[in-house]
Amino acid sequence: MRTLVIVPTYDERGSLPGLLDQVRSAAPEVDVLVVDDASPDGTGELAAARAARDEQVHVLHREGKGGLGAAYVAGFGWGLERGYDVLCEMDADGSHRPEELPRLLDRLAAADEPALVIGSRWVPGGRVVNWPWHRLALSRAGNTYVRVALGVGVRDATGGFRAFRAGTLRAVDLSAVESHGYCFQVDMTWRVLRAGGSVAEVPITFVERVAGESKMSRAIVVEALTKVTRWGLRHRWSQLRALFAPA
Ligand code: GDD
Ligand code: MN
Repeated sequence: MRTLVIVPTYDERGSLPGLLDQVRSAAPEVDVLVVDDASPDGTGELAAARAARDEQVHVLHREGKGGLGAAYVAGFGWGLERGYDVLCEMDADGSHRPEELPRLLDRLAAADEPALVIGSRWVPGGRVVNWPWHRLALSRAGNTYVRVALGVGVRDATGGFRAFRAGTLRAVDLSAVESHGYCFQVDMTWRVLRAGGSVAEVPITFVERVAGESKMSRAIVVEALTKVTRWGLRHRWSQLRALFAPA
């Protein structure tokens, strides 16, 4: 199994070097792709210097801040072209602990062959460390809304610590993904489920960053709320139509 861990970065100079060290020692066989959106703080140059001396670290430079979703779609394309079997998502800021990566990969390799494994904060055993109450509330409420609006059982559909099979990503039309912000995570979950794939969750401990700043914004929340509502309505509408369609 050739595995690629994709790490999107925007101004993560203070976190990225330590994270790369940890990933390389926690899972020495996996390759890493940093997808940097021309970070003003020089994260892209830092990643390039690292890639020059470690052949398992790669970097994809993008022209400007295009959002988490676009960065991952570019990273998935890069990895699929190069024949990786498993493609993972991981934040650069240390919130997703590299020592938990092997557990996600083991779960993906289990006999029931899930299409997607999510490192989950909101299943028994999952935890969040050092988040202010408003972030906890937002994640809780957001995930509850996703479950109700889309009628799915996933507890942490917004979580960004994930492992996909290459075949799962090939079954999804990545070029149609239009989510910019963190609702990209919900978008992908929803696409995998609609394509008939199963989603497994393994508990993780999410630790709030110590360096740099979150890129979460009001625009990201508004986009997620609007899109999830639209997807939910569309889904209910097609269920209704099926119910009343002539036999
Ligand atoms: N290339 C690129 N472009 N990377 C980005 C961009 C962008 O526009 N925006 C954010 N990132 C990177 C950050 O540099 C970091 O590595 C990662 O994406 C996550 O960003 P954070 O800003 O640290 O997210 P968070 O901690 O507030 O949010 C976490 O929780 C969300 C809600 O559950 C993350 O785990 C998200 O993935 C998750 O959806
Ligand atoms: Mn973060």
